[in-house]
Amino acid sequence: MTLPGEEAPLAATVDFDVGDLLASARLNEVPTPFLVVDQPTLERNLAAMQNAFGGRSASLRPHVKTHKCTAIARLQVAAGAVGVTCSTTDEVAAMAAAGIGDVLLGNVVTDRQRLRSLAASATVARVAVAVDSEEAVSLLAAAAAAVGALVGAVVEIDIGMARNGVASVADGIALAETIAATPALELRGVMAYEGHLVDTADRAERGELAVRAFEPALELLHELRARGLEAPILTGGATATHDSTGALPEMTDVQAGTYALMDATYRKLAPEFEPAAVVVATVLTSRADGPLVLNLGQKRLGSDWGHPEIVGYEARHLYTAEEHCVFQHAGGPRPRVGERVALLPPHICTTMGLYREAFAWRDGEVADGFAIDARDPLA
Ligand SMILES: Cc1ncc(COP(=O)(O)O)c(C=O)c1O
Repeated sequence: MTLPGEEAPLAATVDFDVGDLLASARLNEVPTPFLVVDQPTLERNLAAMQNAFGGRSASLRPHVKTHKCTAIARLQVAAGAVGVTCSTTDEVAAMAAAGIGDVLLGNVVTDRQRLRSLAASATVARVAVAVDSEEAVSLLAAAAAAVGALVGAVVEIDIGMARNGVASVADGIALAETIAATPALELRGVMAYEGHLVDTADRAERGELAVRAFEPALELLHELRARGLEAPILTGGATATHDSTGALPEMTDVQAGTYALMDATYRKLAPEFEPAAVVVATVLTSRADGPLVLNLGQKRLGSDWGHPEIVGYEARHLYTAEEHCVFQHAGGPRPRVGERVALLPPHICTTMGLYREAFAWRDGEVADGFAIDARDPLA
């Protein structure tokens, strides 16, 4: 994605010393590409988001699909998060096994094997999941009843993204009534996600659109409560809207995810958080007429959103292929063939799932790394 009015951007800067990192004798033993997380930047991001929730009625329930690391999830909970949000049952299982006591799967699950895993997680942690159909509710109830678990359910309503969610407030009320009457399930409330609006370039406009989009979710919540149904939770939100939908008085659990690590695309949307993760790659081709090619393709760089940026070099991203990331050098020093460079990924959430671990960098040293242990174990 290119934000409105923008071309693929040039040199990235980060707030940690990438020169030191690229010169590290220990990291130079590691074949590229690999991931590095600057730990002080990560910690500043976690503290900044937590502080933003200081005076609000909502709590932070960070989305761990961004990092898929139980160690980072623990840091988020230690910083004050009420629990975590996940996007897969593997993430839920890993978080529950790591001792995170309160886990929301902010996604619909209808696969029986996945539901079995979810119900097993609900026997060791407080678990809730989004539902948007009578079929999904009955499949979930069967899995929960089979292991004697009580699983929470939030009714997801589609507020414009055209992904999961019931189509109307009336459908949401009917589904909530079914959940409330199902012994293995506990109605927890309402979920809505304004994902179609998070890349609106103007922040004030983004906030207004997102708050307006939430109106049906608020109506559903009020209708459930007016009918005497227990619906304590309204969950949704994102990094780019934490200050708009995240500040709604009815909101209880904000699912911001990217703020922890950030990326080249998201930093333009929420510049109060800093990029904390880079991918280190090696220059394959660096021609005097401009083409600059790195040994990093879509198999190691989530490329579904935005453009990568090379830290410290002026180069415009052209495209990412299976095994190559291709730039056009645009001025200033040109990296040499065989040189290692640090890249800001265009989309950190899809990049993290392509690695098994991230090295941690703290004050000029390699620190204990982060196992990316909540990804699909078969991937
Ligand atoms: C349902 C849901 N909630 C929250 C988020 C987190 O948003 P962000 O990474 O923009 O903070 C996402 C991101 O894809 C999502 O799908």
